[in-house]
Amino acid sequence: MVKKPFYITTPIFYPNAKPHMGHAYTTVLCDALARYHRLMGEDTYFLTGTDEHTEKVVEAAKKQGKDPEEYLEEIVVGFKDLYKNLDISYNQFIRTSDQEIHWPGVVEMWNRLVAQDDIYKSEYVGLYCQGCEKFLTEKELVDEKCPDHNTEPEKVSEENYFFRLSKYTDKIKKLIQSNEIKIVPEKRKNEMLAFLSKGLQDISFSRPKEKMTWGIPVPGDDSQTMYIWMDALTNYITALGFGRGEENMKFWPGVHVVGKDIVRFHTIFWPAMLLSAGLPLPKAVFVHGMIISNGKKMSKSLGNIINPQDMIDKYGTDATRFLLLKHVHPFEDTDITWERLDEWYEADLVNGLGNVVARVMKLAEMHLPEPIGQPTVAGFAQEYTGPLDSYDFHGAINYVWRCIQKLDQKITEEEPFKVVKEDPDRGRKIIAECVQDLYIVGRMLYPFLPEANKLIKATILENKKPENLFPRLG
Ligand code: MSP
Repeated sequence: MVKKPFYITTPIFYPNAKPHMGHAYTTVLCDALARYHRLMGEDTYFLTGTDEHTEKVVEAAKKQGKDPEEYLEEIVVGFKDLYKNLDISYNQFIRTSDQEIHWPGVVEMWNRLVAQDDIYKSEYVGLYCQGCEKFLTEKELVDEKCPDHNTEPEKVSEENYFFRLSKYTDKIKKLIQSNEIKIVPEKRKNEMLAFLSKGLQDISFSRPKEKMTWGIPVPGDDSQTMYIWMDALTNYITALGFGRGEENMKFWPGVHVVGKDIVRFHTIFWPAMLLSAGLPLPKAVFVHGMIISNGKKMSKSLGNIINPQDMIDKYGTDATRFLLLKHVHPFEDTDITWERLDEWYEADLVNGLGNVVARVMKLAEMHLPEPIGQPTVAGFAQEYTGPLDSYDFHGAINYVWRCIQKLDQKITEEEPFKVVKEDPDRGRKIIAECVQDLYIVGRMLYPFLPEANKLIKATILENKKPENLFPRLG
């Protein structure tokens, strides 16, 4: 039987600094969805990587007295180390400076847009924000500064190549309205429709090489460098072999997971490029909220940064994944502080999952003469698969925690530890049921807490109470 393909992507991250909590969050979320689809037996491909052609990389490298290539090597190792420590099961890590893997497909994409007469040269006058890597309008400025970066954008007047985005306004609007470009959640769909109702302008798709020194040259005109978003968005297919043999293009179209700040690029610009190039549109774009701390965006100057590696050092890999998946709201901004993380860790992992595993396996070890063997799981509950099939990992994880609670309640109410003394057969039967239920919980944890999943299975097969799964915080 041919397995159904499933393709999921993180945004490719700017590597001008070490990975932060936002990167960790998006990537854990994608990992959970990728693992779920593998659990369902689908042929799953999970892509992540780095978006390297930004002037910020050139500056960051200069500060350290390195050239961009050398600087990037180290930063990329940092990303990969973090992913390892978060148990991220990516299939490919793409780097946009990779001239073999990435560049041919970007050139192919450019040429396809040219073939449709969707690229033309013109004068550009505008305000460019380096922080956003995009042009801003006067209206978007606050006190003449970019509100996100608090810096004055650069006044620019230059020759650029433009992409005829305006041509696709009506098409994209219809595709979003009809959910052919599926945007989750609904409120982001409505935001994009509101944005489209004002009409789209053509966008600058290249900059002079003197201004953008680091990037992919425009085919046939190397005095111009391609716009970083044109280059970056195309990664989703260059990774699959677009422009160089197409070896994995069977995975396209895929699901993109992005933060709310880059929805427009993924639901409007990217689909317009794909339409122009004659390629299928993404299956869905899932838009998550932001992690903030103490009511504010995390920043060095505010001193409220929570570093993902510090979380892993404190709570461990599984617990860090869990805290991000269960306690960060999928669609709204979520405030995290160390105090709150500690509380969640204690409540859900130490007193929740950890306690139930210990309780069940202690009973099993004491009262069952032998391991129950590997239970067969006929399938997963609709309350678990339903939400996950529509990217609602939060709904699914909440369901698993309800199962954990129920299991705890069952032991409290049915008191197998007492029953087993009066009626050993009945007592053992209840305990064996609890072990079975625990096994199913363990299986369902696989996308979220892969280590706990393994450990629960192993303890059941050995019929032994495990070491403390989630130690209390000292
Ligand atoms: N390079 C572009 C994406 C190109 S995709 C073709 C980019 N990179 S980024 O490194 O700035 O951000 C990547 C992702 O991290 C975005 O989806 C962004 O929303 C997410 N996050 C950045 N900070 C975040 C939080 N504090 N919380 C959650 N996610 C956040 O944009």
